Parts: sequence; C-alpha cells; structure tokens
Amino acid sequence: MIDMHSHILPGVDDGAQVLADALEMLRIARADGVEVQMLTPHIHLDRYPNTRESLQQTFEGFQRQVADAGVDIELRLAAELRIGPELVQLANGDGLPWLGAWQGRHVMLMEFPHSSIPAGSENMVAWLIQRDILPMIAHPERNQALQSRPSKLEPFLAAGCLLQVTAGSLTGQFGAEARHLAEALLLEDRVTLLATDAHNLAYRPPNLSSGMAAAASLIGEAAARRLVEENPRRILEAA
Ligand SMILES: [Fe+2]
Repeated sequence: MIDMHSHILPGVDDGAQVLADALEMLRIARADGVEVQMLTPHIHLDRYPNTRESLQQTFEGFQRQVADAGVDIELRLAAELRIGPELVQLANGDGLPWLGAWQGRHVMLMEFPHSSIPAGSENMVAWLIQRDILPMIAHPERNQALQSRPSKLEPFLAAGCLLQVTAGSLTGQFGAEARHLAEALLLEDRVTLLATDAHNLAYRPPNLSSGMAAAASLIGEAAARRLVEENPRRILEAA
C-alpha cells in the first residue's frame, strides 16, 4: 500500500517530535503493509512556518537516519497546505510541494480549517486549477461545516478537486459524524484515496490496513484496494 498523508518527519509540526518515534512509526507502517510512505508536514504560515526548502533539508537528513536504522520503506516528501491567500505567493514563488500529478496537473494536499470553509475558498481553488494545480482536499469528513452541510463540498468536486479520506475516520476514531460522512463519500464514489494522517504513536498511529478493511466492507475489496494502491500509485508515478 501507499500512504499519501502523514506527519512522521520529526520536529517540524505537530506530528512526530523525535527521531525514535518517527522510526517506530515507520516500522509500524511497514508492518501494516505500507511500501511507500509520503511525508506531508504542515505548511501553515501562522503555526508551522515550514518552507519547501527547509523541509527538503530536514528530509534528506531523515532519509539517511532511516536507512541507517534499517527501516525498509520508501519515503517521499510533499506537504499539507492550509488554504489561504498565502498559497498565491507560494505558487508564484515555486514554493508548493506536490504529491504527484493527475491528468496533467500537479496535485497538492490542501486542508481547510477544522470548523469552516473560509470565504474565498472557491476562488482560491479556481485560481490554482487555472495554473494546473489540482488540490486534493485532506479529510473533508472531519470538517464541521461539511459534516453539517455536505453539499458545501459540491463546488469543489465540480471544479475537479480530489478527496483524501482518513483511515481512522472509517473506524470511528474521529466520531460518528466523521464516520458517517466518510462512508457517504465512499458509497458515492467520490474518494480518490485513503491515507493515515498519522501524527504519533499514542493516539494517531499508522493504521492504513484497518481503514482499508473498513472501506472494503462497504464498497468491496477491489474498490478499496484502488484507494490505497492504484490511485496513489497513479498520482506518484505521474509526478
Ligand atoms: Fe495532516
């Protein structure tokens, strides 16, 4: 399997803080069946002022440490970008890291705030798509505005945005509302891929296989496999 969303790169955001935890998370992911682990630290100007360059430097050191520790997992680096006006500046300055590509466009992992869809989001997405940057919306099922009005997602889907659902949402880890919306999106065939969004060992460990199993019980084994193997591979290999 390929996990396209995680906060395992240590010391750069609210994910793993120390190397030992990051290595253990990778071991868990590998034992869970993940062969390619995408690292997607937050880039969020107010909170986590990472840049593409700063993350790349940290990533190169981390790759060596992972190899030295003998953890057999392929690592890739991108980021999770908070929607906001700063995306314009980042895009213009070549500061956006890609997950890969989809139908000729770069794919960027993009999150909304936890509770709302900010005014201007549709315009922001249209601006990005005009520049051949396709947002993959991170865990829409966990957004409170979308939980109460799922139809608010429609303009983003109509614009072509991809959707990433979090594995733990399907197992109830984020509550009944997140689970309900995640299941509805799966049954409507709106979901591009499942990912862990793993943050730590204690509460949010790597858990892609359990999410995949929950998806399989809803939409069948083959359709669930597409969400953890074929679709992520297609995005990675088109990069
Ligand atoms: Fe995340």
